Amino acid sequence: MAETTAMTAAKIESILQENRLFEPPLELAAKARISGMEAYRALVAEADADADGFWGRLARQELDWFRPFEQVLDWTNPPLARWFVGGRTNLCHNCLDRHLDGPRRNKTAILWEGEPGDVRRISYGELHREVCRFANALKARGISKGDLVALYMPMVPEAAIAMLACARIGACHSIVFGGFSAEALRDRLVDGQAKAVVTADGGFRKDRKVPLKRAVDAALAGGACPSVQSVFVVRRTGEPVTMVPGRDLLWHDAVAAVDDDCPAEAMDSEDRLFILYTSGSTGRPKGVVHTTAGYNLWAHLTFQWIFDIREDDVFWCTADVGWITGHSYIVYGPLSNGATTVMYEGAPRPSNPGAYWELIQKHGITIFYTAPTVIRAFMKSGRAMPDAFDMSSLRLLGTVGEPINPEAWMWYREVIGAGRCPIIDTWWQTETGGVMITPLPGATPTKPGSATLPLPGIAADVVDAEGNSVAVDEGGFLVVRRPWPGMMRTLHGDEQRFRKSYWEHIRPADGSHLYFAGDGARRDRDGYFWVMGRVDDVINVSGHRLGTMEIESALVSHPAVAEAAVVGRPDDLKGESIVAFVTLEAGRDGDDTLLVALRDHVGEEIGPIARPDAIRFSDALPKTRSGKIMRRILRAVAAGQEVSGDTSTLEDRSVLDGLRVPDGA
Ligand code: PRX
Repeated sequence: MAETTAMTAAKIESILQENRLFEPPLELAAKARISGMEAYRALVAEADADADGFWGRLARQELDWFRPFEQVLDWTNPPLARWFVGGRTNLCHNCLDRHLDGPRRNKTAILWEGEPGDVRRISYGELHREVCRFANALKARGISKGDLVALYMPMVPEAAIAMLACARIGACHSIVFGGFSAEALRDRLVDGQAKAVVTADGGFRKDRKVPLKRAVDAALAGGACPSVQSVFVVRRTGEPVTMVPGRDLLWHDAVAAVDDDCPAEAMDSEDRLFILYTSGSTGRPKGVVHTTAGYNLWAHLTFQWIFDIREDDVFWCTADVGWITGHSYIVYGPLSNGATTVMYEGAPRPSNPGAYWELIQKHGITIFYTAPTVIRAFMKSGRAMPDAFDMSSLRLLGTVGEPINPEAWMWYREVIGAGRCPIIDTWWQTETGGVMITPLPGATPTKPGSATLPLPGIAADVVDAEGNSVAVDEGGFLVVRRPWPGMMRTLHGDEQRFRKSYWEHIRPADGSHLYFAGDGARRDRDGYFWVMGRVDDVINVSGHRLGTMEIESALVSHPAVAEAAVVGRPDDLKGESIVAFVTLEAGRDGDDTLLVALRDHVGEEIGPIARPDAIRFSDALPKTRSGKIMRRILRAVAAGQEVSGDTSTLEDRSVLDGLRVPDGA
């Protein structure tokens, strides 16, 4: 299995020998909500003894309910779960209204900084007003409970406002990352039958203005998405935009025309909250569906536990709202807890490489949550830059999105956290709604490179193909044995694929249902989880999840390409990079011009993050006699390794000779 993961054998070996242990700082542990391992174990025992009682207690305690639920979990028809059956609540109410009666009304909810340096501080009271206004603007355009609203936004406060406004009136949002292309946007609009799109003229990204409205126009051109009746446009960059009469309206005008009285809709616990598309190993992106109450509880509880949140914390997650991390830990988790959440439009860039550290210093950020790829990039350029900033406000450091190598973990701890801040390596997925395996800052001793232990109530395990737990330090499949409130409910429009992708890979003899995450992992003698990377045909580039098949489909849609196979190659900076093997139509030359054209073509079909790092033209691809491409061989070739293992099923061994990838290609 190691061959199919992002990590090389040498890396796995070094992790196996990792035995450093860091205890939680005493002062932090003393004040923590979950203080010490005993407190953690008590919660685990409570959940294991009576899971329904445990989740029911927390749901009643942590959320406001318009109508109490009658049953905690209905799991009579697995894998279809219903949580908090019969209850009514509203996520937007839990994020805003319930904070308005006390001092939190004037507390900063969103602390936003734009890339050019403009700052907005929006209090809970102000955010509530703005959300109500936009909710009324949506209603004025005929959008109501159950309708789908797509967001294609830069990182501006209006993105969070639009999300909350949808939740308030019961519209389902579907956020499409602003870095995806018009083509990718169109697919998602059509799949979800979106009734409206919320976008901006553009956004600032790495000293450039990225046009967004233009991409929306391209996605909608020629009547491609007849369901879309309204396009709301936020003014951000001031670039000229074309407004289609009757369809397009400026956000500013839309909110000026309505009042700010908009009661939160009483949503059923299982009403659809949002769809978020993510990549799988086969076919087109999957629309992961999350529902109201279970997701709300999971985002709320995980945020509170993991970041041990205090009233005066300033929390910053560097993700984009287009990914699940932005949903759960920029918007819903922090706001549901009444915390101050930082939203940053920009990124480190040549004109300001220290932008992140500057922001921490400027706003007194106390908790910082980012991806390992960010840490590795800074590590490469040395400690002088972060050392130039005062980051003494920091008390916790988190990571998410990909395995973190022990060297990057240590650097993060020493250089950014001055050896003082616990490192919180959180393992989870779009599908899980929130974090599943993670240290708790006041309880769990940490080991560099390990996500440590599952949260209370999360029955994570590492198993073989029959669902048996594997022995200590043996590799296997990462699974979850019991349902949890934040779990995805289905795939939009494709329940069969939901069953097949997550619940049918591993079939225990006792007929129980295991959630299969798609990752490989092992557990050490302390029960700590070491996540090794994907075991399917999904690759993880800088914490972004991409399906090899999506990239292959994009390549073969180019007229010069006959066949394509895409694999991941271990990369020191990005975790994995994308390598494509391509055979061409007769008469086409695999020259540099075509190489550039193909990379651009993938960028247009999916988005710049999917552009292959290397393209290798080849006369043929290695196939079995039954015509299946042997990816194992391609992965080895891409990584510059000797092709080992069984090649007896390879149809034509001479194909191997023509495959080597030039370094840095
Ligand atoms: O392979 C795992 C990796 O990211 C995948 C989930 O990707 P996505 O749904 O885009 O969500 C990313 C943000 C939650 C997982 O299947 N992954 C995520 N966190 C970690 C990780 N791998 C190792 N360690 C982590 N902490």
